[in-house]
Order: sequence, then C-alpha cells, then structure tokens
Amino acid sequence: MKKLYRCRRCGYGSLQWLGRCPNCGEWDSLELVDQGATEPARPRTKPQPLAAIEPREGGRWPTGIAEFDRILGGGVISGSLVLIGGEPGVGKSTLLLQVAASLAQAHPPFIYVSGEESPAQVKLRAARLGLGASEALLIFSEQRLELIAQEVRELRPQGLIIDSIQTISPSAEKAGEPGTTRQVGLATFELSQLARELEIPIFLIGHITKSGEFAGPKAIEHLVDVVLYLEGGAESAVRLLRVVKNRYGSTEELGVFQMGEHGLEEVTNPSRLFTARAAVAKPGSVVFPAMEGTRPILVEIQALVASGRYAAAYPQRRAIGLDYNRMALLLAVIEKRLGMHIGGEDVYLNTAGGFTIRETAADLGMVAAVVSSFRNRPIDYGTVIVGEVSLAGEVRPVKRLRERLSEAEKLGYRRAVVPAGERPSGLTLELLPAEDLEGAMEVLLS
Ligand code: TYD
Ligand code: MG
Repeated sequence: MKKLYRCRRCGYGSLQWLGRCPNCGEWDSLELVDQGATEPARPRTKPQPLAAIEPREGGRWPTGIAEFDRILGGGVISGSLVLIGGEPGVGKSTLLLQVAASLAQAHPPFIYVSGEESPAQVKLRAARLGLGASEALLIFSEQRLELIAQEVRELRPQGLIIDSIQTISPSAEKAGEPGTTRQVGLATFELSQLARELEIPIFLIGHITKSGEFAGPKAIEHLVDVVLYLEGGAESAVRLLRVVKNRYGSTEELGVFQMGEHGLEEVTNPSRLFTARAAVAKPGSVVFPAMEGTRPILVEIQALVASGRYAAAYPQRRAIGLDYNRMALLLAVIEKRLGMHIGGEDVYLNTAGGFTIRETAADLGMVAAVVSSFRNRPIDYGTVIVGEVSLAGEVRPVKRLRERLSEAEKLGYRRAVVPAGERPSGLTLELLPAEDLEGAMEVLLS
C-alpha cells in the first residue's frame, strides 16, 4: 500500500512528504495518515439500465412557513441535505428553530443539535418564539458527530438540524479542532451519508466567516443538495432568503421575512416594504417593478445628484443595492443622449429597504431617478417605470412585463412607463410607451 500524507490544515493529499502544503501554503502541516480506510470497498449496488430503475422521489414535506416552502420548491425532500448560510446574527438559528418546530409537529420527532448553545439557551429562544411547549422537538447540545450519529440511529428522528456545521467534529478526527475546511468537509460528508441512510432531511447552519481560519458555507456547497443564504443588514429588520442551489427546484426564488419580536415573520406583501415612501412625491424617487424569480416586487430607487464642486477633485459615485458598473454606463448615456452635464456631479443611487436589484430592466428607472434629482422635479407618485436602456439611448423590452405591471396595478399604481411596442393584455393601468430616453423623460417630467 502506498503512503499518503495529508495537510492538517486543508486536507490536501500528497504521495510524498512536503515541507509546505502546495494547496494552502501552511508550513510543516503534512502528516502521514493511515490508508487502511481507503481500501476499495465492494459496491453495494451494481450499474443498472436506466429503463429498469423505478422512479421514486422522496416525500416532500411542507414546513407550513409559506416563504420557506416556496424557496424549497414546495417543501423539504426527505433524505436531502439543506445548507443555510449567513452572517452571524442574521437569524439562522431563529429561522431553523421555527422550521424544526413546525416540521416536528407533522413528523415527530426532530432533533435540534446545537454545538453553540446549551439546551437552556435554546429553550429561552424557543419560548420567545412561542414554541416552548413542543414535545416533538428534541434539543441536543453536542459537538461530536460520532455521538450525534449514535443518538440519531437510536432515536430514529424524522429530521435533524445541525447548528452549526463549524462547531461539529467529524467521527474520524478525534483531536482536531472543528471549523477548519477539512473538518467541516468531513462532517458534511458524513452527515450526507446519514441523511441518505436514514432517509431523513438534515439542515445544516453555516456561518459566513471573515477570517480564513474557519471554513465558510462556500466550502461545502458542492456536498449538499440545497443551498440557501439568509441576508440582511444590521440596520434593517428585513431578511431575504435566497436559493443558490437546489437539486429539486428553481434557484430563482426569493423569500422575504422580517425579524420581529417573535422571530422571523413572513412578509406576504414585500412590495409595500420596499416602496414605503413619503406622503408627497420627492425628486429622485421612482418605483421599479422588479422580478425575483417568478415573483414581482415593487422597489423604490432613489437618486441624489449633488454638485461636487467643493468636495473632491473627482465626483463621488455610489450605488447601494444597484450595480455600480451599470450606473456608470447609464450616467454616460444620460450625458451623451440627453445632453445633461452630470459628469462633474456627485451621484448616489440607493434602493429602499436593503433590496438588491440585479436586472437591466431597472435601467430606465435608474435614469429617471437621476434625471429627476438633477432637475429637482418629482415624478408622479402613481407611476412605475420599467425598461432596459441601450448605449444608443433606446428603451428595450424586458421579460415578464405583464406580471410586473399586474403587481403595480394591485398596489394602486395608475400609470406605467414601458418600452414602446409592448402591450400586455388584461391590464387597466395606463401604459406610457417610451421609444428612447428623450421620449421617456418628456412623458415623466413634462
Ligand atoms: P440568531 O438566530 O441567533 O442569528 P444566527 O443564528 O444567524 O447567528 O438571531 C440573531 C438576532 O435575532 C439576535 O440579535 C436577536 C434577534 N432576535 C429577534 O429580534 N427576535 C427574536 O424573536 C429572536 C429569537 C431573535
Ligand atoms: Mg446561531
């Protein structure tokens, strides 16, 4: 048998000893490992013809939390591994405790493993969430995967939560400290086998870490079936749940929550959240009907154009929640096609409520916000604006215009500036077709 050396830090394998790990650069970290475990095993199954395989999808269990279920494509699949990543403090433990309690009601019992908190601490959180009395949810404070797996095999729960993967030490590593890339990878792999073996869903919480010492959720995305990220700033109560990977559904969906007194509450009408505007129309504010996957959400785009004469040698440019490069490009188009001299002005663009816009369909809205602020003229309150803008200053069509406008109509908007030639049916709101930037600005600011 050949000798194998493994890096203690990152798990890199080499057939010869090296003074420095070529993968992570750590010095003197390669050590000889016992190869016994890697002997080829006899396969449990044989290759079989595709035609002969019985189609079988594991059960899909709804959690009862609608925003979470939509993200998962209807519910969690038994036997699957779901990773929920996010910065510390964003609300991962809160969300998963709510999910676990809800699933445990329908499929008892569930085990919530906390490697970070004592049962009493978890209880405190559960009480705050109004889940204190659940019999079906078992709390287990443990970090050693060997012991966790043992309990799981004995108690046979219907599902498992691991909070967090960075605190768990895999069975094979007796002495290593948890949290390194190698440890987190091994633990995740072991848990994925457990999920398949027992056909139960396992949820992993993963902290996004700033230092390279600890492995973030990125390091294990390839080992799991579903990857979700919970996002949200400290200054806002809004939390967005995004799908990055889903073996059993769409990756386009977005869930919207609000952190409240009783944990994460679903936001069923996010458009209101992202367009909470002043009572009177202000210059620089426009409403753009965004699409997140199959879901339309109205978002306010704000612009502030201010003379930068006294500030710095270079005008300031900032885009929060919008693409910086797209803004730079659109400012050049405004300068050239509308003949407005904004090259020397400071320009700030922002979205309300911490929403991130990733669509070129927001181009016309961004331009309108900038022009409105520059001219100090408000845009009519009941108008939404949508369209992509080309370098030549033409307004181009966007996808799913009907859904966008239908959402605006539902919320009481009366007019929509849209790319010329688009006539979605079944709408009562007034369409203002725009062929190019000039035409659009004439309609909006005349
Ligand atoms: P937590 O779920 O502990 O975050 P994570 O597991 O991602 O690190 O939640 C963190 C914050 O949420 C904490 O600052 C307190 C707040 N919180 C509420 O506002 N309401 C609640 O009901 C709960 C349980 C937490
Ligand atoms: Mg936590």
